[in-house]
Amino acid sequence: MKHIHQTHSSIPSSSEPAVHESSHILNSFAGEWCSIGPNNKVIDSRIGAYTYTMDDVTINYTEVGKFTSIASHVCINPVDHPMDRVTQHHMTYRRADYGFAETDDEDIFNWRKSNRVTIGHDVWIGHGAIVMKGVHIGTGAVVGSGAIVTKDIEPYTVVVGVPAKPIKTRFPQEIVDGLLQIAWWDWPRELLEERFYELNNINEFVKKYG
Ligand SMILES: CC(C)(COP(=O)(O)OP(=O)(O)OC[C@H]1O[C@@H](n2cnc3c(N)ncnc32)[C@H](O)[C@@H]1OP(=O)(O)O)[C@@H](O)C(=O)NCCC(=O)NCCS
Repeated sequence: MKHIHQTHSSIPSSSEPAVHESSHILNSFAGEWCSIGPNNKVIDSRIGAYTYTMDDVTINYTEVGKFTSIASHVCINPVDHPMDRVTQHHMTYRRADYGFAETDDEDIFNWRKSNRVTIGHDVWIGHGAIVMKGVHIGTGAVVGSGAIVTKDIEPYTVVVGVPAKPIKTRFPQEIVDGLLQIAWWDWPRELLEERFYELNNINEFVKKYG
């Protein structure tokens, strides 16, 4: 993985991770062929190879697997404010910015960092979805547009709604087990190139490689 910085395009023209110049990236890493779209904000996160985001995506304190697709206006891990203080206003922890102290209150930032979201490989997160703190989204899952994910999601499960609930699985269990065992997302690039067109036939693929 590479430390990621802004470039002029969000479409990778090589295996170098590409980040649109309008996006703000802080202390984050990305794998090869990864692409971060316009007006994204990514903080303290690791984004796997080939994963891409569309516009206006926010990702805080998150591990994202490989080959994951993140639609516009998705927010992953919107952070909480302390609700048990006199005020919820951020001046109590961004106290240096407001001239109340020399340093910020790192306890709040460490609390946020300890509530990481983890997302598997080949997940599709639909337009405007929100993924709340601490959640794990299994490999191959689908999050419908506008969903708010508050609980873990099993691999290859489709969830929709507020709060998000499973409506179906993408494949029967034996196919899911086969895909998890094959773990094609870990194949080297040469193998992916060789077997690329086989990705379009799920039954043949699992029969051959499972
Ligand atoms: C989740 C999704 C993939 C399901 O697609 P599908 O398998 O074709 O599902 P259907 O349209 O048959 O809907 C199945 C049920 O879920 C409901 N549903 C589907 N998507 C929903 C959503 N996003 N929120 C709430 N309910 C939803 C439908 O109303 C239907 O309910 P019913 O059984 O009570 O009638 C799709 O609806 C979706 O949200 N896609 C994301 C699109 C997107 O954001 N693209 C961004 C570009 S990358």
